[in-house]
Amino acid sequence: HTYVAIMAGGIGSRFWPVSRTNYPKQFLDILGTGRTLIQQTMDRFRNIVPVENIYVVTSDDYVGLVQEQLPEIPAANILAEPYRKNTAPCVAYISFKLQQLDPEASLIVAPADHLILEQENFLGVCAKALSFVASLNALVTIGIQPSYPNTGYGYIQYETMEVVPGINKVKTFTEKPNKELAQAFVASGEFLWNAGIFVWQVSRIVDAFRKYLPEMYELFAADQDKLNTEAEAGVIETIYPQCVNISIDFGIMEKADNVYVIPAAFGWSDLGTWNSAWDNMEKDYLENAVVGDHVMVIDAQRCVVHAPEGKLVLLQGLDDFIVVDTKDVLLICQKEKEQEIKEYVAEVKRNM
Ligand code: GDD
Ligand code: MG
Repeated sequence: HTYVAIMAGGIGSRFWPVSRTNYPKQFLDILGTGRTLIQQTMDRFRNIVPVENIYVVTSDDYVGLVQEQLPEIPAANILAEPYRKNTAPCVAYISFKLQQLDPEASLIVAPADHLILEQENFLGVCAKALSFVASLNALVTIGIQPSYPNTGYGYIQYETMEVVPGINKVKTFTEKPNKELAQAFVASGEFLWNAGIFVWQVSRIVDAFRKYLPEMYELFAADQDKLNTEAEAGVIETIYPQCVNISIDFGIMEKADNVYVIPAAFGWSDLGTWNSAWDNMEKDYLENAVVGDHVMVIDAQRCVVHAPEGKLVLLQGLDDFIVVDTKDVLLICQKEKEQEIKEYVAEVKRNM
């Protein structure tokens, strides 16, 4: 039986000032489509599994937002984490819980905050991965052709010979390499970006926790019979502070020897920054992309304007700018300086 776990506990700081610690990127309609990123993720997976089989793992601070945005999801399917410990504990939690409910479970683990343009294509890749893992001890990940040396991604090197059509054995998995390494990886033409979407049987990933994160495995295994009971929240409250803070990529994917990749292309974007949002938004003939009902753009080109609060915003004579208007913050920043937004936010927090 197939289950989906949507990971929705991250903070998304590069989309400041729209993305805030108390209202991160996955809960925003960055592109102005009418559906937030987590809603789009949900819509996508409802095509393959019934809503009862979709779980959201998130920080306890965001449970209210998840309930509000995904009213169709049963309350019991929202797993609240009492501490931010990155994605390995998040995957351990859902996996041990599912293993109790259904030892035969297969699981798709997906981020809540990505953009996927070609739905049919994406669902085909998921189906292929699910049928592959059904009979094998395999951890499957999805690989995207890299376009530049982004150091925020995982890089996958794979055997050129396919194991079955469209699926290759992974040789090396390198999470968030430094700049030089990322440049070498992209230049070699042998690497794919890790899309951060994983498919496996629950029993297999639990096994990988036993091998590669044994302490975390022990913490969850010791109390697994209390998951899915009234004691669950209490057990999680004691397990989490003892877990190391580590991502599934560093904790397991880099180390495991049974990782496979499906090279794919389905209009994937991590939507990490305002420029990537601009890339994926509808634009006018001067390539301005605008979210907001009351925005006037005059003699400007290639700007991204995000002003959902309804205030009239009039912009004249600016090229290649990010303009973001929220209730309490107005950001006007050159597009080419967007990587510095993180630093500005740190500065603002120090001074305000
Ligand atoms: N429940 C929960 N708890 N979710 C979390 C937590 C947590 O502590 N931390 C992050 N998440 C969620 C985020 O909201 C996001 O949906 C997903 O897990 C991935 O976390 P990110 O923090 O966005 O990871 P990343 O973007 O740095 O790296 C991952 O994604 C890249 C592709 O976008 C890795 O898998 C990379 O290898 C990959 O290339
Ligand atoms: Mg991410």
